[in-house]
Amino acid sequence: MIGRRSVLKGIGAAALASATGASGLLARPVKIAPLTPRPPAPGGRVLDWRFTSMERPARLLGPMGPETRVWTYTDELMPVLRARVGDTIRARLENRLDEHTAIHWHGIRVPNAMDGVPFVTQPPVNKGESFTYEFTLPDPGTFFIHPHCNESGQTGRGMAGVLIVEGDERRAPDADLILACKDWRLAEDGSWLPFETTEGASRAGTFGTVRAVNGVGSVNADVPAEGDIRLRVLNLDGSRVLEIGVDGAEAYVIAIDGNAVPPFALETWRMGSAMRLDILVRAPKAGKSFKVIDYYSSEPWTLGTYRAVGSARKVRAFDPAILYAPDLPRADLAQAERMSFTFSASSGSAADMATKLEPSDPLAKVLLDGLCVRDKTFWAINQASWPTTDHRQLPAPLGLLQAGRSYVFELMNATPHHHPIHLHGHTFEVLSTSRLARPRHFADTVLLQPKERIKIAFVAQKGDWMFHCHLLEHLEYGMMGYLRVA
Ligand code: C2O
Ligand code: CU
Repeated sequence: MIGRRSVLKGIGAAALASATGASGLLARPVKIAPLTPRPPAPGGRVLDWRFTSMERPARLLGPMGPETRVWTYTDELMPVLRARVGDTIRARLENRLDEHTAIHWHGIRVPNAMDGVPFVTQPPVNKGESFTYEFTLPDPGTFFIHPHCNESGQTGRGMAGVLIVEGDERRAPDADLILACKDWRLAEDGSWLPFETTEGASRAGTFGTVRAVNGVGSVNADVPAEGDIRLRVLNLDGSRVLEIGVDGAEAYVIAIDGNAVPPFALETWRMGSAMRLDILVRAPKAGKSFKVIDYYSSEPWTLGTYRAVGSARKVRAFDPAILYAPDLPRADLAQAERMSFTFSASSGSAADMATKLEPSDPLAKVLLDGLCVRDKTFWAINQASWPTTDHRQLPAPLGLLQAGRSYVFELMNATPHHHPIHLHGHTFEVLSTSRLARPRHFADTVLLQPKERIKIAFVAQKGDWMFHCHLLEHLEYGMMGYLRVA
C-alpha cells in the first residue's frame, strides 16, 4: 500500500487513481453485503422551529480574543438541528438583519416553494418580515441550511446550520460527531475582511484567514475506545476544497451528501463547497488517538484529534455497513433525455456587463440587489451568466425539462478551476467522472475537477430549480442559472 502522504504530495488526481489501482479510491475492496432497504418512516412529528436572523457578538479567535459581530439564524453560531425522516418541519424565519434573507435547505428534496431562493421560489424576507417553511423530510442524512442571496457575505458572517435527518441507521454507532468546516475572514482585531475580491472571484475564491471546525479552531474530543465512530464532515466553506483522510484508525466512507453508499475504505475524499461525507471509524485502543486531516492544503491541516478512552459498549468485528440503502428515484437511463452543460469563464468581459447597467438608473440598484448579483460577471454556464444582460426580469432557464422524465446531464469544466456543481431539489446519481475516480453514488453536489467531464442522472421534479457552482463567488459572479421543470 502506498502511503497517503506520498501519494498526495503534489500528485494529481489521475496519478492518485493509477497509484491505487484501476478502481482508484475504491482500492482495498472489502466484502460488504449490499445495503438493506430502509423500513418505512414511522408516523412523523411536526417540529415547530424558530429562526431569527440577527447580528450578535462572538469570539471566533478564541475565548480571550476580540469580539466579532457574527450573523446567525438562532442564538447559536452554526446550530445543529436534528429531525427524523418523515417528520414535518414548520420553520418560521424572522429577519432582524438590515438586508433580506431566506433559508435554503441544501440537499433536501423540498417542494419548490420551500426551496428558499429569493425572487425565484419566494419573495425575499426583508427586515422585520417573516416566512414560514413547511415540508416533510423525505430522506435521512447530513444536510445544511444557508441563505441564497449575498451568500458570501451572509454565510461569511456565520449564517449556516447543520441539519441531521435521522433514520438511516440499522445499527447505532458508539458516537456521532460533526465536523462542520468553515473558515473565517477576519482581521486581527476581529473585524471582517472583505468577503469578495476580484482576484478571488475571478479565480479559485477568496479564502478565510482563520481555519475553523464547528466555529472555532480544530476539534479535540474523547471517543469510546474500539468503538464505531460516525463522523459527519461538512464543507460549509464558500471557497475551500478539502481532501479528507483519517490517520490512526480504520475508516470507511458510508454516505456521500447524506446518501448511504456501500461502504468502502477511505483513502482520501475530495470535497468542494457544500459537499458532505459520512465516515465510520473504528476507534483505536484506549490511550491512542486518531486524526481527521485535510490533505489538500499546502500543509496537511488537522481538523480533529480524537482520543480513545474507556471502551465501547460492545466490541465486535468492524462492520462498516451500519446504514440502510437510500430510497431515491432512479433515472431510467435507456429513456433519459441527454443535455450538456459547459462551465466556463463568461464570454462578455466584466466591463461589458457593467456598462449594460446604467448606475444612474434607479432600477439598477434595486435589480442588482433583487437578483442577488454583482455588477459584473466572470463565469457562465452554457455561455449564459446569471443574470442575462436583461436585468429587468429573471433570465431564461438553462433548460426546459418535463416533470417525471429522466435526464442525463453531461457537465463539462472548461476552466482550470474546481467547480462544485449543485442542483436544487433533486438527488442525482453520479454515473461517471473523467478525472477523479468515484464510485457511482447519489449526491446533490459534485466536484468538477479542472477540465473534467461528469455525467449525472436524475428524475425531474416540478419547479424552477437553481443549478450552479457552489463556490460562492463563482455563483455570485455568473456561474448560476436554473432549470424549469414543468
Ligand atoms: Cu447550497 Cu443553491 O445552494
Ligand atoms: Cu465554480
